Amino acid sequence: MNKHVAAFDQWIRTRFVDMNTELETLYFALEDRAAVESTGDALKTRLVAEGRDYIIELLAEGNTDEGFDQAFDLLGNVGLYMAACRRHDITEPSREKSSPLLEASALALHLGASLGVTPRFATSHLTTHNSAVDGRYKSFTSLQDEYLFIEYNTRGVFAYKRAADALVRILPLGISHPTSYHLLMDAKLALQDVIKINAALFDKLDTDRFFYCVRPYYKPYRVGQHEYRGANAGDFAGINEIDMLLGLCSANNASYSQLLVDKLLYMMPYDQARLRDVMRRESLLNLFLEACEHKTDQEWYQRNLKLFLEVCAAHGETAAQHHDQLVGKFIQQPSADLPESRLQNITASGPPLPVLINSLEKLRDLRLAAPRDDIPSRHADFARLRATLRAN
Ligand code: HEM
Repeated sequence: MNKHVAAFDQWIRTRFVDMNTELETLYFALEDRAAVESTGDALKTRLVAEGRDYIIELLAEGNTDEGFDQAFDLLGNVGLYMAACRRHDITEPSREKSSPLLEASALALHLGASLGVTPRFATSHLTTHNSAVDGRYKSFTSLQDEYLFIEYNTRGVFAYKRAADALVRILPLGISHPTSYHLLMDAKLALQDVIKINAALFDKLDTDRFFYCVRPYYKPYRVGQHEYRGANAGDFAGINEIDMLLGLCSANNASYSQLLVDKLLYMMPYDQARLRDVMRRESLLNLFLEACEHKTDQEWYQRNLKLFLEVCAAHGETAAQHHDQLVGKFIQQPSADLPESRLQNITASGPPLPVLINSLEKLRDLRLAAPRDDIPSRHADFARLRATLRAN
């Protein structure tokens, strides 16, 4: 790591965290905890100026071309700084035509364009690609609930990725291969891990701390002229690989493929390539439907189909948990207590909360293969397959 990159990284891991934590302490003590705009002015000025000094040095140095990993990491650091400025109401996209953080925007745009990713911090910067120094990884604050959120998100993402890895390996083997049974088992165990991780997060995370002190760092912000939606734990390919490989969601469906297109640049380039590849593949569901025409008596069919249906059920359960428990407890319920004027930009993606909830509900029901006619649910196809299982 070169000198300027290292100095900025050190600042992000220390003073930046201290200043954000101090500001959170001030806001949390207010009667109206959402009234951040008129609190902590001196600290905010210091945060902007200190970060800017490091960024000016980095800009002057130009593109150091020290490889993808370092450039991606630096983009994350600039992004954390810009996201904190948004959180503290130093910037606010609806007030601006372009970001007032001129140097940070220039650096982020340069890095994002050269890496082939969105020019803002993405979830992977804080989760799967967040390197720890002496046990301490990057975060906005040193609040216990932020650590909980980051660690459980990271574990959830890795568990989904394990499930996706197992499912994608079935494609060259085929659904009748004996080893495909073991791959389905790997996928099921990984999804059961997601269920445990979601349940633990649901129990341990404090709603008010999350809602008032963690979530606001994930708001949309401008980089240069354009506004970029916030990061969310879903910005990795694995979850959609699972959706499409199982056959629960299809890239032929306009609203689902819109979601894929919108999130593509929020993923690491490697994930982008995996997602594109899976979009072209046949789903396991369709392969089982083909087989159910005349193979239902075969041993492999009974054995592998039963497990396939269990994998699908586990995926549906993770989606139901995410929506009914995590989004419900940590976003919907505390939002209900806010006055209308404070509801803007509650979500990371930007649309009004009811619109977002409605689209997350549709995703949940696709993953559950729920009996709905207004979305392309595969409910009837799953019922057809279930009817071919022998009762034993
Ligand atoms: C406190 C816990 C959590 C809350 C409140 C939460 C909330 C949300 C919200 C509101 C969205 C919609 C995007 C937006 O903000 O605009 C979202 C998206 C998403 N989240 Fe979470 N989330 C939580 C934890 C997790 C965890 C642990 C995972 C596991 C990896 C996860 C996976 C996803 C996925 C995959 C998406 C993209 C939409 C989808 O494909 O379902 N989330 N989350």
